[in-house]
Amino acid sequence: MPAALSAAWSLLAGAFLAALLLRDWARGSRGVSVSDLFQDLIRYGKTKRGRAPRLLQVPKRWFTHFYVVSVLWNGILLIWLSRAVFFRGSFPSWIQQVHQALGRDSQSEDADSEHFSALLVLLLLWLHSCRRLAECLWTSVFSNGVIHIVQYCFGLAYYVAVGSTVLCQVPTNFTNGKQLPVQISWYHFIGVVMYIWASLHQHKCLVILANLRKTKSGQVVSLSHSVPSGHWFERVSCPHYFAELLIYVSMAITFGFHNVTWWCVVMYVLFNQALAAVLCHEFYQENFSSYPKHRKALIPFVF
Ligand SMILES: NC(=O)c1ccc[n+]([C@@H]2O[C@H](COP(=O)([O-])OP(=O)(O)OC[C@H]3O[C@@H](n4cnc5c(N)ncnc54)[C@H](OP(=O)(O)O)[C@@H]3O)[C@@H](O)[C@H]2O)c1
Repeated sequence: MPAALSAAWSLLAGAFLAALLLRDWARGSRGVSVSDLFQDLIRYGKTKRGRAPRLLQVPKRWFTHFYVVSVLWNGILLIWLSRAVFFRGSFPSWIQQVHQALGRDSQSEDADSEHFSALLVLLLLWLHSCRRLAECLWTSVFSNGVIHIVQYCFGLAYYVAVGSTVLCQVPTNFTNGKQLPVQISWYHFIGVVMYIWASLHQHKCLVILANLRKTKSGQVVSLSHSVPSGHWFERVSCPHYFAELLIYVSMAITFGFHNVTWWCVVMYVLFNQALAAVLCHEFYQENFSSYPKHRKALIPFVF
């Protein structure tokens, strides 16, 4: 288990947890101080509305680029890993060097049982990116909201890092002549079923958000923000973020529950989505006086 990777994801998770706890720091200010920069970096889209100078901001619809990068990068990783698993090919030498730098022994055989799990998780991640790209292109209706250039670069790097993390869970050199095991286990089945279930719900939530801006015939008539309702929105303000968390949990299950590095990724997604959900929840409460009181921010009945 590459300890450096676990440490890096834990650090990121901790940073988002800290941001969540400190989110009210200097909330009302509008200057160029460190606290304003902090607010500028933790908020995006509607939760940033009316407060950010347009300096170093890019359109939020550029979220699309994250998924283009992810489909391409993780698609390439998927091809390499498939070749390795099914045809016993080896990875390019630079990947092996990165593995060694991260503490993974390329000849190690203790993780043989994880080859198929890693392949499956990478496939799920790639399919997730394909769906999200399609939703950005054809489902979601974006307004003129913005994100900070730092958030944009972080988002691009995130999808490269997350796929590379999957690849780092298995040895990279397969030329030892040994037949690689393709063992389908019960946890693969549970993980994939949960992934499909969470993905369908996430898609439904994104359709509900898009329909807030459309007529019944599908014509876009507004770019404003209104109160979503129906389906999981009856329980939480950001069910699509909750579904995102479930998707990453389903990948942890597909890994067989015991992959510590991936649980660190799940912690990162939890705190990342919790921060975004709480800011969104507060936005709804502040802007809509009749906002349902029983609705939580991210996790039904919890918070
Ligand atoms: N894994 C990760 O680290 C990570 C990080 C971030 C996001 N994500 C995922 O990416 C997906 C999109 O995230 P997001 O932060 O962009 O979600 P979001 O802010 O809720 O936006 C989703 C879409 O709905 C629109 N929208 C949002 N609230 C609305 C409202 N009240 N009325 C009308 N339209 C509304 C947005 O338009 P606007 O243009 O006005 O915003 C956008 O087109 C989510 O499923 C999330 O889980 C994952």
